[in-house]
Amino acid sequence: MTKIIGIDAYAVHVPRLYVDMANEWPVIRAPQLGEESPEKLRGKVMSGVGLRKMAVPDGHEDAATMAAMAAKRLIDESGIDPADIETLAIGTETTVDQSKSMAAYVLGMLETHYGKNLQHVGTPQVQFACIGATYALEAAVNQLRAGENKRPYSIVIATDISKYPLRSAGEYTQGAGAVALLICENPRLLELEPGITGTVTRNERDFFRPNWSSTAVVDGKYSIDVYLDCIEGALSEYSARSRARRNGSAPSSIYGELDHLLFHVPFPRMAEYAAARVFATLWETDPAFAPVLHEVRATLDSPDDRRELQRRLVKTEAFKTEFERRIAPSLELSREIGNVYSGSLYLAFASLVEQAATQGLELQGQRVLFCSYGSGASAKVFSGRVAPRWREVATRVRYGEELRTVADGGRRVEIDVAEYERLHGHVEVGSDAAIIGPPRSVVPPRGEFVLARLGETTTPKLTDYGYRYYAFTA
Ligand SMILES: CC(C)(COP(=O)(O)OP(=O)(O)OC[C@H]1O[C@@H](n2cnc3c(N)ncnc32)[C@H](O)[C@@H]1OP(=O)(O)O)[C@@H](O)C(=O)NCCC(=O)NCCS
Repeated sequence: MTKIIGIDAYAVHVPRLYVDMANEWPVIRAPQLGEESPEKLRGKVMSGVGLRKMAVPDGHEDAATMAAMAAKRLIDESGIDPADIETLAIGTETTVDQSKSMAAYVLGMLETHYGKNLQHVGTPQVQFACIGATYALEAAVNQLRAGENKRPYSIVIATDISKYPLRSAGEYTQGAGAVALLICENPRLLELEPGITGTVTRNERDFFRPNWSSTAVVDGKYSIDVYLDCIEGALSEYSARSRARRNGSAPSSIYGELDHLLFHVPFPRMAEYAAARVFATLWETDPAFAPVLHEVRATLDSPDDRRELQRRLVKTEAFKTEFERRIAPSLELSREIGNVYSGSLYLAFASLVEQAATQGLELQGQRVLFCSYGSGASAKVFSGRVAPRWREVATRVRYGEELRTVADGGRRVEIDVAEYERLHGHVEVGSDAAIIGPPRSVVPPRGEFVLARLGETTTPKLTDYGYRYYAFTA
């Protein structure tokens, strides 16, 4: 019998600092971006793109400290013994080293913090833009299914800092954060369905980051098209495999069997574009929604104009109602944090669980579709069923509350544009330049992992030039 493997728990770490997209930022950027007025830019970012706040890492944070914070939180909240971890895998496109796996740095931080030797833990780093963590999750799950684990748990962490050049169209889709997932047999939260994942890979230039650059190069509009095409391809394979697995006994409509659809969310509005493409595909064979689709198609000058079909579809009441029910709850965290690249699909999952728990909704037994995408480009579509003990996990986390600002009695601190630009512009070390090290912190760290310093020595006795030293501040 196939083992039931899935997500037992999750933990999210978000930097405390943020830029409020409604305040000073649009006032300063509107003239620089050639926008008509701050109000127009504010409207575009908050409604057109969907972002309220953008999380910014402080001087002592990087993708590795964020990952370690998420892992520590996951371990503490789940009450597991770190010695019971088989694999700690990281999916990231913000690597801190061109050679060493970030997961080894993270393991080192956990060893120091818990006072345990964890050298038995496997520590791969998987890189493929925003889909890296999904490939890491797939490997961790398959390893468990194959019975290769000697210990009950694996941890998969998605950690990233989304960074584009200042004064570019990408700037207002930045963010930062890490999501850690606890993977095991008979999970409390989500049982992943085996044998039906759909995968697509195309060699594309929609988004990449050359080795010499700290910011991504993106062809924004093209990246949206590639995203949609790859998701559609992966969904088609997912649908075909789902039907084949049931030997033709499955109903013709895959849509009717899905309760929630989660997307990779580089910016919240992207979920609407993706939903339009996915609904337009799945509704073709759905008895309840095919008439809506055919009605919209009948209004087109050219019945093959898919872009226009999708634009009109999102305006229908049917679309709005379905979107509100099956997708909107997954976007709340993203609006408050911004793009967390490889973690954004799993942040959407956390958002769904949090929203359901706080609103007293029932998720047990519901089927969740995951649409993962990474530029460059690859997509994976897979699904899972919410497990009976999901509420046990959900009531412990409450990340919505964590996102409250200092003004509202929470922990988040708003920074002004000058401070944000200082942190954004910091370069740790030039190729032959002297080591500069981490920038000054805005909020002194307490109770967290920090990047303490970069090594500066090249002598016969010690060579650590550029090596990253991490610590935990009490
Ligand atoms: C997302 C991105 C392409 C937006 O770029 P942009 O040049 O600002 O795009 P637009 O001017 O078309 O504006 C975006 C939306 O806001 C809408 N908008 C503009 N001004 C508005 C306003 N004042 N109020 C409400 N909506 C507004 C536009 O109509 C558009 O919506 P539409 O697609 O329904 O037409 C850009 O931020 C980017 O490149 N981001 C990074 C790339 C990325 O994340 N790619 C995803 C693949 S992983």
